[in-house]
Amino acid sequence: MTETIRCEENAFTAVCERLPEIALLDNQELMRATAAAFFEGHEDYFWTAPAASSYAHHNLYCCAERGLWIHTKMVFAAFERLVDSYLEQGLLTETERDLGRAACLLHDVKKYGEMYEEGDHADRDHDVQAADWLRAETELDSRVADAVERHMGPWYNGPEPETPLQQLVHLADMTASTKNATVGVFQPHEKIRSQYPSIAEATF
Ligand SMILES: [Fe+2]
Ligand SMILES: [Fe+2]
Repeated sequence: MTETIRCEENAFTAVCERLPEIALLDNQELMRATAAAFFEGHEDYFWTAPAASSYAHHNLYCCAERGLWIHTKMVFAAFERLVDSYLEQGLLTETERDLGRAACLLHDVKKYGEMYEEGDHADRDHDVQAADWLRAETELDSRVADAVERHMGPWYNGPEPETPLQQLVHLADMTASTKNATVGVFQPHEKIRSQYPSIAEATF
């Protein structure tokens, strides 16, 4: 199943409607660059595919239809909560908080590579695929791609997180990928809300 966003003129707006988290970035330039990168970099399946094919590491929303979209929103919400601690501890700057927000929104845009078919498993190197794409096709601060590249942490074969920013994006992904906890989602789109009327909403 695909759900292509058509009409270039409205595409940018459509992405922002589906991921209103983009508007929460403080830096306007980074906000626009993140929206553009997401629009160019995401695949059609992003809006409909599950985030995982098993319930081993994900809550029920993320393993069903639209799970990847919902998971991405949960990662953003988890980051938004955890980042307060890192800021208070002086481990991150406010600029890095914005870069982390961008990384969360972009981290799984290549989850299944270029194509998803029902039952597919996530590409094992989707972290590296997304980072390579960001480096090749966007002008985003390199710290965004670096955090995306290391979001899987010590699992799989990819590089491990080193800086506090990379660590936090990884921890937000872990928090949102917990079987026994369901992070709320910020302003869920009607397509999500109608499918999952009881989904918890995040407020910031
Ligand atoms: Fe991932
Ligand atoms: Fe993820």
